[in-house]
Amino acid sequence: MPNVRTQVGIVGAGPAGLVLSHLLYLRGIDSVVLENRSRQYVEERVRAGVLEQGTVDLLAEMGVGERMKKEGLVHYGIELRFLGRGHPIDFRELTGGKGITIYAQAEVLKDLNDARIATGGQVFFEVEDVSVHDFNTVQPKISYRKDGHAYELACDFIAGCDGFHGTCRPSIPHGVLTEYERVYPFGWLGILAEAPPSSEELVYCYHDHGFALLSMRTPQIGRLYLQCKPDEDIAEWSDDRIWHELQVRLASTGWKLAEGPVLQKGVTGMRSFLVDPMQYGRLFLAGDSAHIVPPTGAKGLNLAVADVQVLARGFDKFYKTGDHTLLDRYSQICLRRIWKVQRFSWWMTSMLHRFPDGTPFDQRRQIAELDYVTSSRAAATSLAENYIGLPMEWD
Ligand code: FAD
Ligand code: DHB
Repeated sequence: MPNVRTQVGIVGAGPAGLVLSHLLYLRGIDSVVLENRSRQYVEERVRAGVLEQGTVDLLAEMGVGERMKKEGLVHYGIELRFLGRGHPIDFRELTGGKGITIYAQAEVLKDLNDARIATGGQVFFEVEDVSVHDFNTVQPKISYRKDGHAYELACDFIAGCDGFHGTCRPSIPHGVLTEYERVYPFGWLGILAEAPPSSEELVYCYHDHGFALLSMRTPQIGRLYLQCKPDEDIAEWSDDRIWHELQVRLASTGWKLAEGPVLQKGVTGMRSFLVDPMQYGRLFLAGDSAHIVPPTGAKGLNLAVADVQVLARGFDKFYKTGDHTLLDRYSQICLRRIWKVQRFSWWMTSMLHRFPDGTPFDQRRQIAELDYVTSSRAAATSLAENYIGLPMEWD
């Protein structure tokens, strides 16, 4: 059964928890990951798909990039579509050769789980009643239940990688964290479809009926999204209705959207959220447990990976030298970049969605913004450098 002691106890086996656990392993630091869902559930959950160059490079350096390099689709641009016309944004040209890779979050998690298991990593799925204790002392603990038995894991540090609805953030005493939040008056209805992508590049589309996005997973499988009500009832959306709406919004002269059987569909609400600081005592929050971005711009998974890169370096420095200054500065280093990514995700969302209370002025302003971004090299460069991923500033 599970260890009773480890160096870093990690709650959650999403991208943040698993990347952290493997980075620590590579630095000779012991960790235990506790996840309340099954491995199958975590690996089948349909979520993000766009990896920044920095995320791709890190996964490759960690030795978990082999399948991603083989099966991932490298893209060097996106298309912005409005008033029925497409306008390319060429990342390669605007950023000196950089791009993004389409590779599903579920595949990233499969690769990470395989790597953790192959190297003797301790990842426990289907644990229950996880709770974190004593993190304002030097001997924090995590309690949990597994197969009906109660356990306690003693650690030096706890990493709260348990997502937006997890247990770690709410365990921090009231008044320590300042929360910043904006909830958007719309959501995304997303489908996975057995339909080859009708465009080489991802298409972000502004339309009178609302935003639409054409993305993909493989050369055979499309991933498409429609702006919808935040509480949209998916039962009211037959496959025919979804395809019809996608056809209307994405329509462009001389272009055809290929349809196919819908494999999966769901509705996601949209919010911007973060807490400052992202740490308290020996408890560190990383990924969605500390911040949420609206999905326009595909930053959620990439932010989670960026956080744990900083955290892993902080633990490494501490265990090698006893110096905790990097751990002390964890929130400060991460939040500087997170706020810029929040700004970008908010900006993309605001430019591309129809707001229920939007006036004709707002709509003309949105068109002007799209016209500007697609006709000014300076504006397009700003979009491109944010989309491919901003650098981490360590000072
Ligand atoms: P998570 O992936 O949420 O992982 C947290 C893990 O902790 C989960 O496995 C959870 O089961 C576990 N957990 C929670 N509570 C406990 C507990 N008490 N005890 C033990 N374990 C616990 N981002 C994009 O960029 N593009 C997208 O298209 C996109 N689509 C999304 C669709 C949905 C429906 C959702 C919810 C998110 C989407 N995101 C998307 C965001 C992106 O998937 C997240 O930002 C990313 O998963 C963050 O990783 P994480 O490891 O921080 O959190
Ligand atoms: C995908 C998701 C996003 O949020 C986005 O901006 C682009 C692509 C995707 O799931 O493929």
